[in-house]
Amino acid sequence: MIDSHTAVKIFRAFDDVNRIRILQLLRDSEKCACVLLEDLRIGQSTLSHHMKILCDAGIVKGRKDGKWMYYSVSEAGAQRAVKAIAEITGLSAPEGDKRETKKGMSDKKHEIYESVKQYYSDLTLNKGGQLASSVCCCPVSALSDQVKKIAAEIPDEINERYYGCGSPIPDGLSGRTVLDLGCGTGRDVYVASKLAGPTGEVIGVDMNDDQLAVAEKYKDEMADKWGFSNVRFIKGRIEDLAAAGIKDGSVDVVISNCVINLSPDKEKVFSEIRRVLKEGGMLYFSDIFADKKVPEEINSHPLLLGECLGGAMSYGEFKEVMRKNGWDGYEVVSSRQACIGNAEIERLTEGIKYTSDTVKAIKM
Ligand SMILES: C[S@@+](CC[C@H](N)C(=O)[O-])C[C@H]1O[C@@H](n2cnc3c(N)ncnc32)[C@H](O)[C@@H]1O
Repeated sequence: MIDSHTAVKIFRAFDDVNRIRILQLLRDSEKCACVLLEDLRIGQSTLSHHMKILCDAGIVKGRKDGKWMYYSVSEAGAQRAVKAIAEITGLSAPEGDKRETKKGMSDKKHEIYESVKQYYSDLTLNKGGQLASSVCCCPVSALSDQVKKIAAEIPDEINERYYGCGSPIPDGLSGRTVLDLGCGTGRDVYVASKLAGPTGEVIGVDMNDDQLAVAEKYKDEMADKWGFSNVRFIKGRIEDLAAAGIKDGSVDVVISNCVINLSPDKEKVFSEIRRVLKEGGMLYFSDIFADKKVPEEINSHPLLLGECLGGAMSYGEFKEVMRKNGWDGYEVVSSRQACIGNAEIERLTEGIKYTSDTVKAIKM
């Protein structure tokens, strides 16, 4: 049985609006104190005060890296808090809470992240960049002449590891701030970089170190080729762009190519996109869509997930996730049947029709 002094410490941790906000900000990933200070708009001493209470209660843990502290939710501490409520009130902890692991993330979501990360690392390091199907291979005919011309100037190593299923490069990028979600080895980032020009900026976010290492390798070469440098790559998850340092209303155009299907938390993705876009800003993304809700056994199959089929949304699911996150509507700019080109994968996904679509939505 938890002792009453410890229980008071735990409950005190939740007894302040700022501390609740801090816990919400730490829900999915570790955050630098610098990010918390900006998000909460409080002073350093106030943040330290709240962090001390949260750390004393064992709910949050901190580590020092360079001049900054980094904080995350302690899984054990959070579970202890749930257990304390259950013990004191005589209720049992809800099933859903028991399943939460890894910084508030459910087992299933965590498994999907790890599976996708592993899939794309293997691909980059061990499989010579070859996917098992043709789903994430945008045919050259789907590219505009302008994109084709720019892509031809991009190093082979990047083009050979381009896993886009469409061409989410809208017109009018000159001078714009563009954010590419799941940029991989950076093909679309470098194309957008040329189009955004010296007064624009292109930021690529990806969670995979091996993909980002290839993208980073060519930054100077591409800057020399284009004659200006406007590219940044950031390691991060597209469900938590705040942790990657992307501020509210700071982006003109969000692009993404064959990535959102890989996310286990699409609601967070669309909510983050809305947060980072300026008013009137544009989301322009290519992805794989399914003609019906994808069944669980396909959704959790590592090969089908990695090949961008397992997590594909139906338009019903997409509409719902957009509606929940305040999007008024969208336009399907182009749609073509996805080419699978692998008999085993075709067998495993029999009965589902997949399309590769490019979709546009404006933040009103
Ligand atoms: C199919 S590849 C597409 C890469 C790139 N857009 C392209 O066209 O070449 C998917 C990429 O998304 C990244 N990714 C998948 N899920 C992610 C997530 N939740 N957060 C950040 N990156 C993610 C993977 O690491 C991988 O680089």
